[in-house]
Amino acid sequence: MQKNILKSGIEISEIGLGCMSLGTNYAQAEPIIERAIEHDITYFDTADIYDRGINEEIVGKALKKYQNRDDIVIGTKVGNHLADDGSTFWDPSKKYIKTAVKSSLQRLGLNHLDLYQLHGGTIDDPLDETISAFDELKKEGVIRAYGISSIRPNVIDYYLEHSEIETLMSQLNLIDNRPEALLNAIHAKNVKVLARGPVFKGLLTANSNHVLDNKFKDGIFEYSNQELGETIASVKEVESNLTGLTFKYLTSKDPIGSIIVGASSIEQLDENINNYEASKEISFEKLKAACGRVKNLEYTQHLK
Ligand SMILES: NC(=O)c1ccc[n+]([C@@H]2O[C@H](COP(=O)([O-])OP(=O)(O)OC[C@H]3O[C@@H](n4cnc5c(N)ncnc54)[C@H](OP(=O)(O)O)[C@@H]3O)[C@@H](O)[C@H]2O)c1
Repeated sequence: MQKNILKSGIEISEIGLGCMSLGTNYAQAEPIIERAIEHDITYFDTADIYDRGINEEIVGKALKKYQNRDDIVIGTKVGNHLADDGSTFWDPSKKYIKTAVKSSLQRLGLNHLDLYQLHGGTIDDPLDETISAFDELKKEGVIRAYGISSIRPNVIDYYLEHSEIETLMSQLNLIDNRPEALLNAIHAKNVKVLARGPVFKGLLTANSNHVLDNKFKDGIFEYSNQELGETIASVKEVESNLTGLTFKYLTSKDPIGSIIVGASSIEQLDENINNYEASKEISFEKLKAACGRVKNLEYTQHLK
């Protein structure tokens, strides 16, 4: 497994396990995490809000026996403040971030965090206060590095210019190519992209037709459901291995740090890893031809 290096020297596996879809049953989740380790996946993505903290607990418990290995890296996220009544509200304040990190550490069973990410946010946030919270946590040794998860160009630009972020998590795959226009600026700052949604909820897998009918009934972005189906069929004429193709697309981008793929079963994880290996055999000519059959999308909101 290829490892990519963040600015601070932290190494992350080119395929990371997106832990959001592991569910709340430890007995079912733990074998998937174990299989990820067998596949030499060393980067695990979670968030405080996934299953209201249960996901962090599951990830922490399953990875506890590997705590003596210094290559296992866990990234979690903050910003969705859980209120006493069970609802959540957006809270990027320094006070909250510095409290929430302690709760995440406790749930994960760790004394420091590898990567702490702001889980969204808008340009109207108190951006400098948020950045200073992360800088202070880093200085105090509570976190080793920080990043943001965002699909808002104006927010991404601000953090690239005014903070020491090391990662940007964004949805990026063969169909959702909206972040393309930002990639040069991200690379210039030596920030690594954590590509979430790489198989687009299963659309870019062998299960494509079923996922198209069930999860993309209303289409997405500039695609109607029918157009999406036609586009997928056209891409498959170039290369039938859709997962291999989306992985090739992602690994061909300079700033890619890790492809954060979710899996709700061991079989899905195995298939995804096999396709990651197979992607290395897909030619750049085929990739170019496939990219020529999808729409070039752009972000249309949060530009300024
Ligand atoms: N804002 C954020 O920061 C944010 C937002 C979203 C996600 N994330 C992170 O990114 C990770 C990945 O995102 P994602 O789950 O949206 O995207 P994804 O990896 O594209 O999709 C994962 C889903 O696709 C299906 N799938 C995966 N492999 C498959 C296969 N081989 N065959 C058929 N179906 C397959 C599964 O759905 P079924 O379970 O339905 O079969 C799985 O749950 C998450 O786990 C999370 O860690 C972060």
